[in-house]
Amino acid sequence: MCGIVGYIGDRQAAPILLDSLSKLEYRGYDSAGIAIRNAEEDVQVLKAKGRLNILAEKTDGGKAVTGTIGIGHTRWATHGEPSENNAHPHTADDRTVVGVHNGIIENYQKLKEKLTKRGYSFYSQTDTEAAVKLVDYYYRKYNCGPKDAISKAMVRIRGSYALVLMFNDYPDEIWVARKDSPMIIGTIKNETFIASDVPAILKYTRNVYYIDNLELARLTAGKAEFYNLDGDITDKELTEITWDAEAAEKGGFEHFMMKEIYEQPKAVGDTLNSMLTDGKIDFGKIGLSDDIIKNISQIYIVACGSAWHAGMVSQYVIEELSGTPVRVELASEFRYRKPILDRNGLVVVISQSGETADSLAALREAKEKGIRTLAVVNVVGSSIAREADNVFYTLAGPEISVATTKAYSAQLIAGYCLALQLGFSKGVLGEPEYMRMIAELQALPDKIEKILQDKERLQWFASKISNKKDVFFVGRGIDYAVSLEGSLKMKEISYVHSEAYAAGELKHGTISLIEDGTPVIGILTQGGLYEKTVSNMAECKARGAYLCGVTTYGNYETEETADFVTYVPKADEHFIGSLAVIPLQLLGYYLSVSRGLDVDKPRNLAKSVTVE
Ligand code: F6R
Repeated sequence: MCGIVGYIGDRQAAPILLDSLSKLEYRGYDSAGIAIRNAEEDVQVLKAKGRLNILAEKTDGGKAVTGTIGIGHTRWATHGEPSENNAHPHTADDRTVVGVHNGIIENYQKLKEKLTKRGYSFYSQTDTEAAVKLVDYYYRKYNCGPKDAISKAMVRIRGSYALVLMFNDYPDEIWVARKDSPMIIGTIKNETFIASDVPAILKYTRNVYYIDNLELARLTAGKAEFYNLDGDITDKELTEITWDAEAAEKGGFEHFMMKEIYEQPKAVGDTLNSMLTDGKIDFGKIGLSDDIIKNISQIYIVACGSAWHAGMVSQYVIEELSGTPVRVELASEFRYRKPILDRNGLVVVISQSGETADSLAALREAKEKGIRTLAVVNVVGSSIAREADNVFYTLAGPEISVATTKAYSAQLIAGYCLALQLGFSKGVLGEPEYMRMIAELQALPDKIEKILQDKERLQWFASKISNKKDVFFVGRGIDYAVSLEGSLKMKEISYVHSEAYAAGELKHGTISLIEDGTPVIGILTQGGLYEKTVSNMAECKARGAYLCGVTTYGNYETEETADFVTYVPKADEHFIGSLAVIPLQLLGYYLSVSRGLDVDKPRNLAKSVTVE
């Protein structure tokens, strides 16, 4: 959710912090702030409501505030409205301690009451202010150093946090603490960087430490020292990030979303190739031998949002190709539902960020029950990747746009690979069929490329429906699962209300919403279901709907029913969701652009949902 950064070194901190924050704006953008200090001078805190550029203007791009140590924050409000007062950094009364925070302090009301009784007053509605003042309280009460004060606060705080703190008495240090919220620490020569996500510091260093849960660290220029809650030093290895810095820039595209849509052939190809050995899928590479795979009785896919949609597509494919039963669960439900899990089952947690709070909690729930867990994750070293028994890394590269595209496409590949390997190891798929299907997967990148060449027609269609208030997506089977993603893409960035329905289900209630001109988009890629869905679309047309069909080249008779048809290349029907979703992503994108909205940073959203 919120973006946090920090810098300590020999350069001016403010411009670096603002630059790093600009790479994290997708994590939250309702207010921003920085705290900067020099060894000799007191800390200066500057905040602004609204986008980061307002803070940048206020500080003349950071030039107006001098100091080589600082921390910064972009906020996605959880407690208290977006305002300058609630913006981070937050400070103890006389600025002994200054801090920024990502996460949620669940018991902050209790902490506030306790601190109020001890003479503290509160100026904001945030949970963060309570955390900073709690650290200040222990710091003064025990007259101890930052390490003990933070540890004591960590024992009292319930919830999740990545906390970055500066102490007035320790002008050469920044302190950090973490539980269940992402944070990395990068070092190079005599500089140290802190960020909640890799793109923020990629330009400066590739050498990072991953701070673990319930750990804290003392950061000085070029150095990081880690401690556990008992105050003992913990060993930490420096990891090299292999993403290239350009991958986190717009590279000539107007928006990250379009750039990422264009990166899909590569994301799909790279992810697939990473799992192939001598032309066959090799889960042995990630610690899942054929013997283990063969004995998997049941798959439980757990995820949120688009990752859950990727799970929905995978469900159809895995069950059809391998005969293994699959259940797809929303992580936010799974974690509280006391699910009954087969001991020989496999829990697959899908997450681009690897930090989604509900997905992480679901993973822990599964591990507690002793079930093997497989993470399908894009961000290397993220919490879910580190805690799962096995990890399938999707190789989509950094995804910046809040609306996911390339990570979703790479997640589909993970689902297909699992389906094929389950099917092959269990003897459901013979070798020729298995090899044919791998070849089908290898052909997907070129086919996606082809769809992208035809994007102007979708731009036209988007402008045609840009003033509509409702849009419906319908499909059956895999087409229904893809509709879910098409509908989410549209509503989250264009703010046009949309819903995805299993085509046969519409007439059980929702069809009453169809009025003259209501767009209904039918996904028609499954031969056996084509006529059924076309009939359902015709039912909508009879009630005034304006129909769009997404189908494969050759199905030209669709034009007899639909008002507008867009085509994707033919492919094995199990994998065609990877193609059908591309026009839907483009449609969402163009609708957002034609409505003059901020495609990459839709209102109320954040890229990585690290709170429940
Ligand atoms: C929608 C979108 C979200 C995410 C969801 C899960 O475009 O990106 O629905 O898919 O928040 O996020 P991850 O995959 O990071 O767990």
